[in-house]
Amino acid sequence: MVCFMTDDVPGDARVAQRRNLVTEIPGPRSRELLARREGAVARGVSHVLPVFVTDAGGGVIVDADGNSLIDFGSGIAVVSVGNAAPRVAARVAEQAARFTHTCFMVTPYEGYVEVCEELTRRTPGSYEKRSALFNSGAEAVENAVKIARHATGRQAVVAFDHAYHGRTNLTMALTAKNMPYKDKFGPFAGEIYRMPMAYPLRWPGGREACQANALEVVKSLIHTQVGEDNVAAVIIEPIQGEGGFVVPPDGFLPGLADFCRENGIVFIADEIQTGFCRTGDWFACEHENVVPDLVTTAKGIAGGLPLAAVTGRAEIMDSVHVGGLGGTYGGSPVACAAALGAIETMAAEDLAGRARRISDIMLPRLHGLAEKYPVIADVRGRGAMLAIEMTKPGTLDPDPATTAAVAKACHQSGLVTLTCGTFGNVIRFLPPLVIGEDLLNEGLSILEDAFATV
Ligand SMILES: Cc1ncc(COP(=O)(O)O)c(C=O)c1O
Repeated sequence: MVCFMTDDVPGDARVAQRRNLVTEIPGPRSRELLARREGAVARGVSHVLPVFVTDAGGGVIVDADGNSLIDFGSGIAVVSVGNAAPRVAARVAEQAARFTHTCFMVTPYEGYVEVCEELTRRTPGSYEKRSALFNSGAEAVENAVKIARHATGRQAVVAFDHAYHGRTNLTMALTAKNMPYKDKFGPFAGEIYRMPMAYPLRWPGGREACQANALEVVKSLIHTQVGEDNVAAVIIEPIQGEGGFVVPPDGFLPGLADFCRENGIVFIADEIQTGFCRTGDWFACEHENVVPDLVTTAKGIAGGLPLAAVTGRAEIMDSVHVGGLGGTYGGSPVACAAALGAIETMAAEDLAGRARRISDIMLPRLHGLAEKYPVIADVRGRGAMLAIEMTKPGTLDPDPATTAAVAKACHQSGLVTLTCGTFGNVIRFLPPLVIGEDLLNEGLSILEDAFATV
């Protein structure tokens, strides 16, 4: 059994691995900063929990009033290796002291190449690969679509209900949910076709019908409404993130990948939220041995620095002409140094194993909650990417009010939790993979208390 108590946790020396509330949430200093924020920061940029952070490490976030909170969010699945993880911080400091930018497209540097080599090694598929680096997940998705269109000479892109791929113009078009991501931000990019997602809880006819029919429905709709030979790419999150941690039934992803292969369609796995050990494997596709043609990554790749990538079959990636891909900051030397530190940490500390251990601890307690509270209609996810979906008991009617109340009660007790889902009725759990078991259990107890009080 892998046991990781708090004293194993990177960041311990800097940030004590315990919850400690010394003021109400938010405290006076955070409230002062909130007032300043209102006068300076655009309203459209929201926040989940109104505390201002001064330090963070392992599974703890410290705020400006000296409160220590347990982190079940990892900055939306980013600091899987812990905040300011020692290997990340050391490599970043060293790189920043040497040079911060040359632009890889002007004068290249080794760190970029090394990150691409790691991506070749770690992503699914043993074929010859190439990678290109970018700044954000949305930018990686945009480029994956550009590359797929260029390689196939086709235009249509198939995405799914409940998908989230980003907030730029093309990725808004790929993202399913209107509010808050798309409302009145159109017109959107064209040639995007949306298919029903294999969502076991909500598939008409239920879970078994989803398992039996979803793939055939999607294939038939692509055939009748788009035409296979018009489709450049099918893009899917192996476990949907913002859309509610929707896990398709076994067989759906492999079947979709086969369909793409048979029809010359580029199969893009968006592993931006699921990737880099989060689901208990390096990549979520590995669970069913799905081998995508292109993989998009970001978030967990660089321990908190902005970095993203498209990795895939050499013949697809290299179909693009010289100069066709890039950007001023893509693959910044400092972000690459951070990625090398993060990847080294994941390998050295078997963070995929830790994600599985987190699941072993969390799932029984989440199932226990679901037995006690009929408002919980579903417990799902994999590894350290878990969620509960809330509905009016005995129905599929979403219950976003109870969801928000539970999340708020957790926040008041010093547990950072995030909600998600098309209907805002899912609480998701994304703890740093290095979190100590005692903190993890304490966070679950706070969640249980929150259910008891709302
Ligand atoms: C699956 C997925 N794709 C794309 C994105 C967009 O990434 P970014 O916010 O870095 O642009 C996200 C972000 O949440 C995501 O979860």
